[in-house]
Amino acid sequence: MQTVATVAALRKLIDLWRKQDERIVLVPTMGNLHAGHLALIRHAHSCGSKIVCTIFVNSLQFDRKEDLAAYPRTPDEDLKALEREQTDLVFMPSHEEVYCEQNRIKKSMPDNPLNQQLCGAYRPGFFDGVVEVVARLFYMTDPDVAVFGEKDYQQLVIIKQLVKDLDMAIQIEQVSTEREKDGLAFSSRNGYLDRRERAIAPQLYGELRRVEHQVKKAQHTFAVLESQAVERLQQAGFRPDYVAIRDAATLEPASNETRQIAILAAAWLGKARLIDNVLVSMA
Ligand code: PAJ
Repeated sequence: MQTVATVAALRKLIDLWRKQDERIVLVPTMGNLHAGHLALIRHAHSCGSKIVCTIFVNSLQFDRKEDLAAYPRTPDEDLKALEREQTDLVFMPSHEEVYCEQNRIKKSMPDNPLNQQLCGAYRPGFFDGVVEVVARLFYMTDPDVAVFGEKDYQQLVIIKQLVKDLDMAIQIEQVSTEREKDGLAFSSRNGYLDRRERAIAPQLYGELRRVEHQVKKAQHTFAVLESQAVERLQQAGFRPDYVAIRDAATLEPASNETRQIAILAAAWLGKARLIDNVLVSMA
């Protein structure tokens, strides 16, 4: 496994692999790797022959300075885990390397209204920051395939649209959410939970499963189910931002005709803002 910090070193290896007809798979992360990230790396092996993982805590997607400073960074453990998973290349650039003038995206960035909805409504600028860094990483790496988790479902939908808008020939692969035994989705932010909060946290997924069940029974309107879920999360000790029942492809509000539904939630618990979702097939 090789580790590089500059775009020049990254390009040198990728250009060599291209000449050898390797199929390059990119797995972008912010590090502090857990079982969810490693599931992406494992899936990446089934999509191509050279696996490139990026570790970069992207300041543009943090709305407050404290959050950025507090974000967990564990590079030594991350590199050991990536080595075990037979990653070929790790790209760990500095802020300056990613955001220097030379790496500016020459095309004007597409405007996706979804960036301002759901999580985007509660974290202004968040998805603009995600799109900016992912587009730069795509141009730097020029992969055949890029792998993302369903855990960050809105991010996944926005990135699929980004690839279309920028006319890039990158296949986007999605990987289902890895969970702890009690249902809590793995997340670097779970480390912010104290013991009492950690015991409550799995109820977020529990509530999403309950809504899934009710959506299938079709006893109430979606709006009623959403507000009941918010209330139940409040009673459990969360400070919910939203629970939303959406069309899984577009993230527009779902209707009775929608065949693939995404039920998404974001809720604060202590210092942690947890997000999760379930995907429901109505066919
Ligand atoms: P990060 O939170 O580190 O997540 C990196 C990738 O891991 C994302 O595609 C995310 O959806 C996936 N992931 C996280 N938790 C998961 C879980 N429990 N199961 C399966 N996959 C999981 O998402 C980001 O970083 C950033 O926004 C990034 C795309 C790297 C841009 O900065």
